[in-house]
Amino acid sequence: MLTDPSSTRRRIPGTDLDLSTVGFGCWAIGGQWWGDDVDDGASVRAVHAALDAGVNWFDTAPLYGHGHADDVLVRALAGRRQGVVIATKVGVRWDGAGAHARSDLSPSWLREDVESSLRRLKTDRIDLLQVHWPCQRPTPLAETMGTLDALRAEGKVRWVGLCNYNADGLRLAQQHGEVHSLQTPYSALRREFESSLREAATRSEPPLGVLAYEPLCRGLLTGKFHPRSTFPDSDLRARDERFTGSRFLRALTIVSRLSLLARRLDVPVAALALAWVIRQPGITAAIAGAKRASQVHENVAAMALAEREDAPWAEVDRVLSAYRG
Ligand SMILES: NC(=O)c1ccc[n+]([C@@H]2O[C@H](COP(=O)([O-])OP(=O)(O)OC[C@H]3O[C@@H](n4cnc5c(N)ncnc54)[C@H](OP(=O)(O)O)[C@@H]3O)[C@@H](O)[C@H]2O)c1
Repeated sequence: MLTDPSSTRRRIPGTDLDLSTVGFGCWAIGGQWWGDDVDDGASVRAVHAALDAGVNWFDTAPLYGHGHADDVLVRALAGRRQGVVIATKVGVRWDGAGAHARSDLSPSWLREDVESSLRRLKTDRIDLLQVHWPCQRPTPLAETMGTLDALRAEGKVRWVGLCNYNADGLRLAQQHGEVHSLQTPYSALRREFESSLREAATRSEPPLGVLAYEPLCRGLLTGKFHPRSTFPDSDLRARDERFTGSRFLRALTIVSRLSLLARRLDVPVAALALAWVIRQPGITAAIAGAKRASQVHENVAAMALAEREDAPWAEVDRVLSAYRG
């Protein structure tokens, strides 16, 4: 089914960023923390599949493969960058690729980090710069937000977002500078966003664009896992408690019920899970991570599906309400 691309784009209020309701998440294509099956050639083809399907924005970060995700993304976008929005992040540092990463929102690091991103992304301005984590070091918020404002005034950054802030942190940050978007975890299996955070984001003036990350619960909502699924040590899911024990089994039960509904609609369950996210109040778009084109083909089906009023959304809600985490 052909869909008018304008019906599957949404604007981040107060900006000129019209984003496809599914964005492409670049964490896995960085090649670290997501197992041993990441292949740069397949990643490039995944990015091309996303572009071909009308995905017009990519979420990356310096931390993703310590710059490798940026390199692969830039390579994939060669000759096709016109109209593409790149959202990246700022404020995490590490000493050597294997070292523990930590947040640093000091003005000097923000500037250094942004300059490195500009170089890697081969651009002179960043479309959306997002603070990766709230500050874990004693930088006054006014200095952080003031530096982000200054980077905008200098033309190096167009719009500013925050990731992983709670409602109170968000309100505090907004007292010190302009914020346009919030990136937060949200999926059918992870719904903390629905309380005070959604209220804080939607009551902002103008409301914040909300970009849902991990919308497939790290792949759990694609229906490909079974009770005996395991992960290599190089895969962060080997240490994720959502993928072991009774919690994993409870999630798999919900996913199998969702799969029945997806089959009735003749769509992949991944698309149904993403479309559900896109339809939730306050959500602007979902960021779906992917390693290969076949995954992207499934995920992008969510954009048209989210527009369908004839789908059994109330039944989907009933299935999800049975999940207790
Ligand atoms: N701001 C932050 O702190 C933060 C934190 C986390 C994520 N993010 C952003 O959000 C993006 C999305 O989150 P995420 O990547 O952690 O989780 P996700 O989108 O829920 O899951 C992505 C993973 O699921 C698997 N997958 C995706 N589509 C599939 C399909 N159709 N069929 C089968 N498997 C599929 C792939 O891994 P396998 O093939 O290995 O299963 C893929 O890497 C990230 O890439 C990143 O850009 C931001």
